Amino acid sequence: MAGGKLKVGSAAHKDLFCRSFIDSHLRFEPDQLAWPDLDPAPLQRMREVPFWQEVLYTEMRAIRIIEAFAQGISDPLLREAMDLMAEEERRHERLIRYLIARYGIEIEARELPALPADIEGTFIDFGYGECVDSFLGFGFFRLAREGEFLPEPIFDILEVLMGEEVRHVLFFVNWMAYREAQRGRSAAPLRALSSAWYYARSIAALAGVVLRNARDQGNGRDFSATQAAELLQGVTVGKLMQACLEENQRRLDGYDRALLRPRLLPALARTALVFTGKNKQ
Ligand SMILES: [Fe+2]
Ligand SMILES: [Fe+2]
Repeated sequence: MAGGKLKVGSAAHKDLFCRSFIDSHLRFEPDQLAWPDLDPAPLQRMREVPFWQEVLYTEMRAIRIIEAFAQGISDPLLREAMDLMAEEERRHERLIRYLIARYGIEIEARELPALPADIEGTFIDFGYGECVDSFLGFGFFRLAREGEFLPEPIFDILEVLMGEEVRHVLFFVNWMAYREAQRGRSAAPLRALSSAWYYARSIAALAGVVLRNARDQGNGRDFSATQAAELLQGVTVGKLMQACLEENQRRLDGYDRALLRPRLLPALARTALVFTGKNKQ
């Protein structure tokens, strides 16, 4: 919820979500990060992670969508923020390509499909997709880190991506509410209904990716036969949802309290915890 007196859809709201995004941008290049040399066992584990190709593909698609959408934005501040988001996604692609090359990970070349004509609708679907992916991703990331699935310096590097995705989500959620308010849909229940529709689409799309990956077996290997499958052993829905909720909260806590936060997924996760008997509240 917006705290204080900030009115969703106002110029002050726009200034705040654009400025906090632009001001929190970090300057670095992926090849300057502290990339570790890996011993044979962790190197093998790194190569068996089944989703590097999907991560690379997601970043490449993000760049195309944000660049195309940004071109049509006339408001200078919104345009600056969108351009910066595209720049960060281009850097994500460079980071993942660097990781793939440095650790000798094999991936297959994959064509990106052409963008649909409705670029704004595509950007909105993409934005909700980032909300779903990062909510789940933050929880998985913590469980993988706690389980020492990869060497700690690799998590430090991937943390850079995580830190930027939370800013993208925060920017997107506020931009979406701003856009809805500009179109006269400023009542919170109306915005929640519209969000629920897009979230459902994103979750369905994510399920499609998971199923496709299961069928194609990630980077061409049988996932269940890899060491990566160990990561999922002992992880219950309750444990994962708890990690997602805590990590989401922790990462968002660092940003201005007046900004809107994603609400539907945490609410769903808390409901899931009630049903799995793990809710501590
Ligand atoms: Fe990204
Ligand atoms: Fe992103």
